[in-house]
This record gives sequence, C-alpha cells and structure tokens, in this order.
Amino acid sequence: MTVFLTLAAHHATIATMARKAISPGGSLSGAVELPGDKSISHRYAILAALAEGTTEIANYASARDCRSTLECLQGLGIRIDAQRDRVRIAGVGLDGLKAPRRALDAENSGSTMRMLAGVLAGQHFPSTLTGDRSLRKRPMARVADPLRRMGAEIRSQGASSAQENGDRAPLEIRGGHLHAIDYTLPVPSAQVKSAILFAGLYADGVTTVRESVRTRDHTETALREFGAAVSIESAKGESGLGRQGGTRAEEIVRIHPRPKLEPRRLTVPGDLSAAVFLIGAALILPGSELMLHKVGLNPTRTRVLDFLIGIGAPINIASLELRDGELVGDVAIRHASLQGGEISGPRVAEMIDELPMLAALGPVTEQGIEIRDAKELRVKESDRIAALAKGLRGMGADVEEFSDGLRVAGRASPGKTPSLRGDKVDPQGDHRIAMALAVAALGAEGDTTILNADCVAVSFPEFFATLDRLREKS
Ligand code: S3P
Repeated sequence: MTVFLTLAAHHATIATMARKAISPGGSLSGAVELPGDKSISHRYAILAALAEGTTEIANYASARDCRSTLECLQGLGIRIDAQRDRVRIAGVGLDGLKAPRRALDAENSGSTMRMLAGVLAGQHFPSTLTGDRSLRKRPMARVADPLRRMGAEIRSQGASSAQENGDRAPLEIRGGHLHAIDYTLPVPSAQVKSAILFAGLYADGVTTVRESVRTRDHTETALREFGAAVSIESAKGESGLGRQGGTRAEEIVRIHPRPKLEPRRLTVPGDLSAAVFLIGAALILPGSELMLHKVGLNPTRTRVLDFLIGIGAPINIASLELRDGELVGDVAIRHASLQGGEISGPRVAEMIDELPMLAALGPVTEQGIEIRDAKELRVKESDRIAALAKGLRGMGADVEEFSDGLRVAGRASPGKTPSLRGDKVDPQGDHRIAMALAVAALGAEGDTTILNADCVAVSFPEFFATLDRLREKS
C-alpha cells in the first residue's frame, strides 16, 4: 500500500493550549469564512473512497473528527493527499477496500464510527472499529441492530443486552452478503440512517429507511452527487408532539444497490454548527455585527436560525446558491436582546448540535431557554445536560435540570442576579460544551478559564483564534 499523504499539514491549525482564559465584554465585528462542514466532509470522504477514480474536495473540514475519518479510510488502503483544506482521495470502487491491519480508530467521532460501520458491514473481510474513552461509552446498538438485520455479524462490548445501551465499541464487524431491509429508525439519527444507506450500497435489493423526524439529509444528497440512485418520499404533517411543533413527517429514503460511483470535484460549505457559536457570541456582546460567508444552509440544518429569529435575533440571509446539491449562503447577524423560549418535540433532533449554545444564551434572554425531549443530549460526546448544568451553575446561572433537558433562567426571572460571573469551568472533554461555556463567559463579570479547551479542535480548531480576531477589530 502506498500512502502518499501527510495529514499533519492539514491539521497544523489544531491548537495545543490546555486552558483558555475568556475575558468578557467588547463586541464582535467583521466577516468570516467558516471551515468546511463536519457532517458533509465525512460523507464526501467516505463516498470518494468508494467511487471509481480520484475525487477532489475543497474546504474539507479542519475538524479533528474528519481527520479521523480520513485515517480510517487510509487504514482500509485508500490513498489520500491532504494539503490544508484540499483533499484528494483515490477511490477504489465499492469492492476495492483492503482488510485493515489493525483496529480502525474513530477517536472522538461518532459519525466516523457509525457511518463506517455501514460500509464495513458490506465488506467480505473482518474489521474492528474503536474510539476514545468517550466514544467507547456511547450507544452503538442503534447502528449494530439494523446492520445485523441486514446480515452482518457484529460483536461489541456488552452486546448481550437487547437494550439500546447494550452495544458499545469496539465493534468487530464481519460483513458481506447483505440483505435489503425496510427499517424504521427508533431514534432520530442521521448517522444511523447514513450507515444503513451505505450498507444498502452492498445489499441484494432496494433498502428503505423510514424516519418520523426529519434528520439532516447530506448522505442522500451526496449519494446522488456521486451517482447513486436514491429516492425520497415525504409525507409532511404538522407535529402533534412537543409543545412547539416542528417537522413531523414520514420521510422514506430508498437506495438501489451496487451503483457505479463517479469521482467528483466538490466544495464543502462552511459549517453552520460551528458558525452558531460565533452567532451566539454576537448575540451576547452589544454592538456586534458579523458576516459569515458561504455557510451551509441546508434546510435540515437551519432550524436553529428559525428559532433565533423567532426569539428576536436580527439574522439576514443573502447570496443563496445551490452548490453540489447543498444550499450555501451568507449570514449576517447583529446583536439584539432576545426573548427566550422553549425547544421540544421534533425540533430537538433538528437542532441537536446547537442546543448547548442555545442553553448558554439563556442567562441573557428575557425569559430564559428551556430544552425538553432531549434525552439524546445525555449520550453525546459528554452528558451535555449535566455538563451544561454544572458549567452554567458554576458561573451563577439559575439552572433546573430534567432527565430530558434543562431550563436556564433569563433576566426576568425573580431573584436573578444581573449577570454571570467568571469561573473555572470543565467542558468534560466535549468540544461543543467548551464553546458554549466560552460564549456564556463573554457575558459574565470577570474572567473565565476553560479547562482542556483544546477539545474544540474536534469540530472547530480555529474557534478561539477566530473569536479573538473578530474582537480585536471591534
Ligand atoms: C451527525 C448527526 C447527529 C449530530 C452529529 C453529526 C451527522 O448525530 O449530533 O454531530 O453528521 O450525521 P445523531 O445521528 O446521533 O443524531
């Protein structure tokens, strides 16, 4: 196997600071172009490996998670040349992957592990997927169960229990000879949907995935871009669930097996889930005015913007275009005072990665932020409900924790202190908790120290540098 890449150059930007001090105040101004979307980068890399020829990806995510995907693909014999955010992947076709010599390490990346499990289920060689301590604690039955139904043999830690919590990585996968299934997702999860669709590439007929809450559809879009036959049928309906509605639909996705995937030249849109932390910072700091260029605005990801606009955030979208099947545009945001509100029901899945930032905005809103129906937050990179409650309480916020969410009191709450105070906070190794607490710290009195702040590199290595640069200019 000739490996002609160095991924080191691509990730030279990853910061190595252990602690980050955040001083409050100032305002944000200027324009930014965000690093590539993490979700889309994973999918492009995986499909590029399975295509017949070399794919070139521009603006590939700087997120460490997406490097994990590239390294796993290398472990499967794929040649990758990564120069900063430009990645060339020499695809080997659906049947060209090689048996890995050692376990494939997804590190902190749930998307890498779950989506690659789908691809590996279709291979005739055995393989093992492992991850870091956090990933080895996360539930894998949701992906192992449907892949077993398709005919893959998957051994895991604690798989004896039939419960959701039963399966943990490492996952030992023996695949090949997959049957098409018609599967209804028991938990709304784009990662699981994607794993089944990737396995469906290798099945003996048309594979169907049904979801009752619409999750991000980047896999469906990317599969089509690479030339696979995917159909989507949706029966939209208003939600009876949750207190605030959302998109309750039956979405039926079908994939035809064994397409010839064509290599492509693709550009990854800017990462909206990273951008929201800058949006949150601008909303906290009076006088802020920001422009975010070429951000991914796929409608399955923009619920968070709808919510923010609904509670008073002045957000404007311009220059919308469709690029490689994905909507991209510029997002302008100004500081404003916010009402606050509740997120529950299907909307939770639609803005799952943005909930930590929204919770961190709670103390500066009038009515506070309440999040319910969000048990999933407890099985992310950390128990995000507990980590947010602890971090925000440490800064003096009034937080009520529920089994499925939390309520962060706003300014109008009786007996509430006027602002947060700086503290030493532990993000529990979770990138989104670190960024959410940093955003909250901007509105506190006194400095905050974020411990192990370099975990932000998992999704947004440039976060602190970008924040500092935008504040210097103000
Ligand atoms: C992702 C799906 C979501 C999200 C994660 C990325 C994806 O996870 O939280 O950050 O790229 O498909 P789930 O599938 O577990 O909801």
